[in-house]
Amino acid sequence: MTRGTKPAEAPRVARISVVRAIREAVFACCAVGPTSPAHVARVTCTRAPVAPVTGTHRASGAHPGAAGRRPAGLAPYRPGRAPPVARFLGRMVYLEAASVPAFERLARELAAHGAPQRLQRAARRALRDEERHTRMASALADHMANTAGPVGGGAARVPLPRVRRGRVRSLESIARENAVEGCVLETYAAAVAMAQSMSAAQPRVRTTMRKIGADEMRHADLAWEVARWLERRLAPEARARVVAARRGAARALVKSAGRRVHPNLVAQLGLPAAPAAKALAVDLASCLWDMAEWDMGDMR
Ligand SMILES: [Fe+2]
Ligand SMILES: [Fe+2]
Repeated sequence: MTRGTKPAEAPRVARISVVRAIREAVFACCAVGPTSPAHVARVTCTRAPVAPVTGTHRASGAHPGAAGRRPAGLAPYRPGRAPPVARFLGRMVYLEAASVPAFERLARELAAHGAPQRLQRAARRALRDEERHTRMASALADHMANTAGPVGGGAARVPLPRVRRGRVRSLESIARENAVEGCVLETYAAAVAMAQSMSAAQPRVRTTMRKIGADEMRHADLAWEVARWLERRLAPEARARVVAARRGAARALVKSAGRRVHPNLVAQLGLPAAPAAKALAVDLASCLWDMAEWDMGDMR
């Protein structure tokens, strides 16, 4: 669809259901929050069955929840030697910092393509959120590095992410990046942050993740709003490629979420252990990433 063609009204379900789906997935899969039997029964009866997690994997400071919105061209984070908690927090600082240029480019590209002001404003607000998250994550990493005991006493090296200021891309390129980085990775990160805010042993972690998680929920919602605006402007073949990219990213995330998580990350940072992390990803796949109306073109 070319710019200027008036698209049909988009479905109204997405704006409400993204945040709700994330909250319900966390409550259902991570054993945190208002897990009264009635609530759990109501949530689980609407979800697809969760596949059992099999196999063992090497534990490390990596966890799929430490994802931000990675800009194109970002070099992978290489923490070097450090304890798992420090490595996780180092990666978190790096990805929060990298999310700043990602939202700067999104805001600029939305403006260039004539997106509604509310989306442009939301992207610029997210940029400022990510600057704040970088400071908060860095302060948390310092705090944990100075904490006595087996979880503290280590700090990971965090190089500044370097990202070139790219030119304005096509709608399909922006939509593909948004589908993977926003609809899948940031959405999952928002769910993990919410779980951490309720289950981390360290009060400082709970406080930090509560603030970051609230913003990330908004970023997840923004990603789906942007997807709705962008994808309904694409030709059917291009939209199918974007949908395939989102599904592929979701499959990869479900797979990586089943990897064993170091016990210190679970105990101290409140990260979901492998079964819960996998269940969370599977749940979000059934509620969001594989939603039929996104694949069947009802959003046009
Ligand atoms: Fe963030
Ligand atoms: Fe974010």
